[in-house]
Amino acid sequence: MDLQAKKVALRKIPHGIYVVGLKQGDQLNAFTATWLTQVSFTPPLVAMGVKKDSHSLEMIKAGRVFTVNLLGKDQKSVAEHFVKPASVVGEKLSGVPHRLGKTGAPILEQALAYVECEVREVANDGGDHALVIGEVVEAGVHRDEPALTLMDTGWHYGG
Ligand SMILES: Cc1cc2nc3c(=O)[nH]c(=O)nc-3n(C[C@H](O)[C@H](O)[C@H](O)COP(=O)(O)O)c2cc1C
Repeated sequence: MDLQAKKVALRKIPHGIYVVGLKQGDQLNAFTATWLTQVSFTPPLVAMGVKKDSHSLEMIKAGRVFTVNLLGKDQKSVAEHFVKPASVVGEKLSGVPHRLGKTGAPILEQALAYVECEVREVANDGGDHALVIGEVVEAGVHRDEPALTLMDTGWHYGG
């Protein structure tokens, strides 16, 4: 395979940028994700790729819920904050206004919109990211504006 072509081609897949909120017992966390898409209308399902050695994947497997927070075009700094590993920076949500949704997972007050999900499946034995499938059980819109995308940030995750 032409590895450079693989990288260039895969990086042309358009992606959003999201802050995924998690809850396990009374512990909360959130991380920045881009590998996320809708994969079913009925029931409404979303799928995302979650790094296997991340703290977040452990929380997803144990807590079985997550939120997907969409950001505005001027909120790259919010995504930047949640890129930091929980193991290094500790409690990422302290100082970031949030509330708990009906699943108990955190919703960012500054998000444009959000969905709340219950985990239905965790798969992908072979890959370095697990495939997490969640059913959307609640949603809300704070501001109906265009959402921040990976391309807006100038960052890459993929290839
Ligand atoms: C632009 C960008 C996109 C990212 N997308 C994902 C993603 O889709 N899935 C993932 O598991 N990690 C993704 N990450 C990495 C996580 O944000 C990072 O590993 C984070 O530290 C995990 O947080 P945790 O330690 O709280 O689990 C991305 C990072 C960047 C910079």
